[in-house]
Amino acid sequence: MERIYFDNAATTSLDPVVLDAMLPYMTEKFGNPSSIYSYGRETRLGIENARKSVAKILNAHPGEIFFTSGGTESSNTAINAAINDLGCKHVISSPIEHHATLHTVEYLHHHRGIGLSFVKILPSGHIDMDHLRELLQNAGGKCLVTLMHANNEIGNLLDLNAVGTLCKEFDAIFHSDTVQTVGHYPFDLRNTPVHFITAAGHKFHGPKGVGILYINENVKITPYIQGGSQERNMRAGTENLYGIIGFAKALELATEHHAEHSAYINDLRQYMAAELEKNIPGVTFNGDLKGRSLYTVLNVSFPKSEKSEMILFNLDINGICASGGSACTSGANAGSHVIRAINSNPNQIAVRFSFSKNNTRTEVDKVIAKLKELI
Ligand SMILES: Cc1ncc(COP(=O)(O)O)c(C=O)c1O
Repeated sequence: MERIYFDNAATTSLDPVVLDAMLPYMTEKFGNPSSIYSYGRETRLGIENARKSVAKILNAHPGEIFFTSGGTESSNTAINAAINDLGCKHVISSPIEHHATLHTVEYLHHHRGIGLSFVKILPSGHIDMDHLRELLQNAGGKCLVTLMHANNEIGNLLDLNAVGTLCKEFDAIFHSDTVQTVGHYPFDLRNTPVHFITAAGHKFHGPKGVGILYINENVKITPYIQGGSQERNMRAGTENLYGIIGFAKALELATEHHAEHSAYINDLRQYMAAELEKNIPGVTFNGDLKGRSLYTVLNVSFPKSEKSEMILFNLDINGICASGGSACTSGANAGSHVIRAINSNPNQIAVRFSFSKNNTRTEVDKVIAKLKELI
């Protein structure tokens, strides 16, 4: 059966060019980067070149880029460091963060007595900036603000500069989960008021299990993982060598083709939205579809019925891959915490379709035809 993959916010396929770059590091270039002889020197060079390339693309200093296992580890490291090393006593976050953030701040609140407040979410899915200011004013101690750049379920984009500037005013630490935007948007970290950002290679056609944590050079933290001296004593453990090579290659390709791919994917998403409106009565969209929003994500609400309640299951039976929430929760399915936070209408079923450069209008047409049958 032909399969249609419309779940690119969960993960993307590995680009064959990325695989080609990784392969030598799985075969002949296998040395431990910490070894002092030639095998080690050659893989160490591979890692340091990858770091330089990533730093250049993000307009950061190579010393600010740390390779990790992905978005979850990076956010855990940043949030814990803000509490343990940077004197934050209070965390301001939002109810629509990824669980990598939400569960971390909730843990710190329940087990370490750290203050926690959630900024209000407007019906558009954007955060209420006036409420954020109020929370910062009333926090009564140094704050960590942790707010995601793009929401992985509804696609809404945060204004990093506006939030960072507000954080500066209150001397707060600012961490942003940028897992859905690195590799999809240009970054200029030297001119962005943020202390920590994160990324995961598998969201932009790189390998899984590798990511970065950007730590602004003015911030000094202690390691989260203890052990050897890898990553300049900041992240112990033998490096995910071929993952790191793949991460850098994927980011290089994404950057090179950004204009072309983002326009193509955005067109596909708008086309699907228009076709849904034309063909499925009662369909609505979650998030700020026509405003500040990721071009890769389309979150759709179908009117609730016996048929629509089975929609994800039936799409899957027909070879169409989409999800109800983030990939980490869609198996358990207690419903999406993001949709609950922005849309209190219980008579709707939300489905996230998310696209990549590999999808086509023909695929959209096939999905629409199937949805007409299934809804
Ligand atoms: C917004 C966001 N943050 C964090 C993560 C976690 O990243 P990873 O699975 O690489 O740890 C994901 C993806 O799963 C995500 O979409």
